[in-house]
Amino acid sequence: MKKNFLVIGNPIDHSLSPKLHNYWIKKYKIDAVYEKKLLNSNEIESLIFNIREEKFHGINVTVPFKKIVIPFLDELSEEAKISQSVNTIYKKDNKIIGDNTDIEGFKLSLEKTGHKIKNRKTLILGAGGVVPSIIVALRKMQSEKIYLSNRTEIKATELKKNFPEIEIIKWGDTLDFDTIINATSIGLKQKDEININYQKISKGKFFYDVVYNPPETNFLKNAKKYGGITQNGKMMFIYQAQKAFFIWHKIVPEIDKETINLLDV
Ligand code: ATR
Repeated sequence: MKKNFLVIGNPIDHSLSPKLHNYWIKKYKIDAVYEKKLLNSNEIESLIFNIREEKFHGINVTVPFKKIVIPFLDELSEEAKISQSVNTIYKKDNKIIGDNTDIEGFKLSLEKTGHKIKNRKTLILGAGGVVPSIIVALRKMQSEKIYLSNRTEIKATELKKNFPEIEIIKWGDTLDFDTIINATSIGLKQKDEININYQKISKGKFFYDVVYNPPETNFLKNAKKYGGITQNGKMMFIYQAQKAFFIWHKIVPEIDKETINLLDV
C-alpha cells in the first residue's frame, strides 16, 4: 500500500522537502508519495488523528508549527524534548512520536565545513523556530559561549528561560565572536539588511546563514566581501531530511552531487 508523507507549515509554498524526499523515494523504489500542505493551527489535531489512522505515515513540520504540535503527540525524542521543537513525526508501537532532526542537520552541516566550534564564541541572530535546535547543537559541539541577539528582545528573553547559558545582546550590537549564525528570515526578502558593521567584524570569521534560497543572502555577500568565510543552510536542510528519511524508511539516502544540485532553484 502506498504510504503518504507530508510537510506542514504556513507558508509552505517555498518548501523543497517534497522535491528532495520524492527524489529519494523514487531512487530507492519506495511505494510512497510526499506532499506539502498549507495548514492552520486548528487543523493540527485532525492531522495527527490521520497519522493514528495511518492515512499518513510521516510528517515534517516547519515554521510556525514546530512547537505548537507538541501537545498533540504521545511521546518526544530526547532531542525534541530539550529543544521543545519537533520537525519529524511518525507512529511507532501505536504511539505518535515527535522527533527533531534539525539539531543533527545543523551540527553535521557545520562539522563538514571543518570549522571549529569547540571552546569558541558563537553569536546567533534571531529567536525564531529554528534557534532552539541551533543552541542544542552548539551545546553539543561545546561552544564556549553563545550570545544571542533578536530584534524583538522579549523573544530572546523567553528563549533564555530554556537555555540559561545564553547571553542576550542588543539587536545591532556585535562583539568578539568566532562564528555568527543568521537564524532570522531576513535573507528570504532580498531587500532587507542586517545593520552591522561587516567591514569591522568579518575578516577571518565564520558566517552561517540558515537560509539557502537565495544561495547567497546579503548577510553572506557582505561578510565575504570583507574577508569572512561563509556557508548557507543548504546542507543543514539536506541532512535533516536525510535523518527524517531514515526514521521513516530505514534507509540512509545517499547525498551525492545530484542530490545537492536538486535544490538549486
Ligand atoms: P517564528 O518567529 O514564527 O518562528 P521565524 O521565521 O522562525 O518565525 O523567525 C523569524 C526571525 O527572523 C525572528 O527572530 C525575527 O525577529 P523578531 O522576533 O523581531 O520578529 C527575525 N526577523 C524577520 N525579519 C526581520 C527583520 N526585518 N529585521 C530583524 N529581524 C527579523
